[in-house]
Amino acid sequence: ARRIILDTDPGIDDALAILLALASPEIELIGLSVVHGNCTLAEAVANGLAVLELGGGHHVPLFAGCDRPLLRPLTTAHDTHGQSGLGYAHLPTATIQPAPGHAVDFIIDTVLAAPGDVTLVAVGPLTNVALALRKEPRLAGALREIVMMGGALRADGNVTPRAEFNVFADPHAAQIVFSAGVPLVIMPWDITRLVRLHESEVQRLAASGKPIGQFIADATRFYIEFHRRYFGYDGCAINDPAALALVFYPDLATYADVFVTVETCSPLTMGFTVADFMLSDGRRPNARAVVAFDTPRFLSLFTERMQALERR
Ligand code: BDR
Ligand code: CA
Repeated sequence: ARRIILDTDPGIDDALAILLALASPEIELIGLSVVHGNCTLAEAVANGLAVLELGGGHHVPLFAGCDRPLLRPLTTAHDTHGQSGLGYAHLPTATIQPAPGHAVDFIIDTVLAAPGDVTLVAVGPLTNVALALRKEPRLAGALREIVMMGGALRADGNVTPRAEFNVFADPHAAQIVFSAGVPLVIMPWDITRLVRLHESEVQRLAASGKPIGQFIADATRFYIEFHRRYFGYDGCAINDPAALALVFYPDLATYADVFVTVETCSPLTMGFTVADFMLSDGRRPNARAVVAFDTPRFLSLFTERMQALERR
């Protein structure tokens, strides 16, 4: 199994990524590192623990990380993810506790203990990842790969006309990650906004009456309302589990080499990911970006796995 650390800001779709990781035998989830983002760090930690418990991941350590971006003020997305960060869901407070120590040290220590082995899946703002790369320069060479959800490469953003949330929420951290020289796969908002879970699919999951189906229904009801109100979309984009799935089914996607730089100065386009697919001036790519994705195949995989998790 591929050993992964999931860096996350739960968050409705983050919660779905945690459940998918727990449900997928191809993956060994060796820990969660939690970051500010969709909600405050404290909320994200509480949500992460509750979702681990829901999915039978009591054994997976969760580490709290950075509570704010490197330079910019904190931006949360309570409008998107609800007051608690999990929509209309009310999970019981977890009985498990966060692991002692900082998420940044957990990332560094775990990756350096097995060079070339660990994949970091980053589905929140990139503050923890950037800080880890800066604190331990050997980290870049020791990671197997970073798979991240973020950026709007060829499409509009979702926070501002140009910027996607995870990059907007800490653009300086994103730039550190893009320029670190780590093998990097980017699952951008251009693609994930099309990976949508609809009311009908959610109802099918909820029909079991079991806690996981009920949680997904309650959390996504809020998320679906938001997508309708804000983007005019039918269904909610489940960005983070779609990025996670690339780790074990890379052939869900088609990729293109790209050189990505983040705008960190302009107030108008802060967090814009400038994607150079032409590789102008003989630039070497710093990432592989997803340019097409098999959404139907992913959605059936996702729903099957959620049902399997429930049966455990
Ligand atoms: C990303 O931002 C967050 O709101 C979601 O959890 C996802 O990681 C989408 O832009
Ligand atoms: Ca997220």
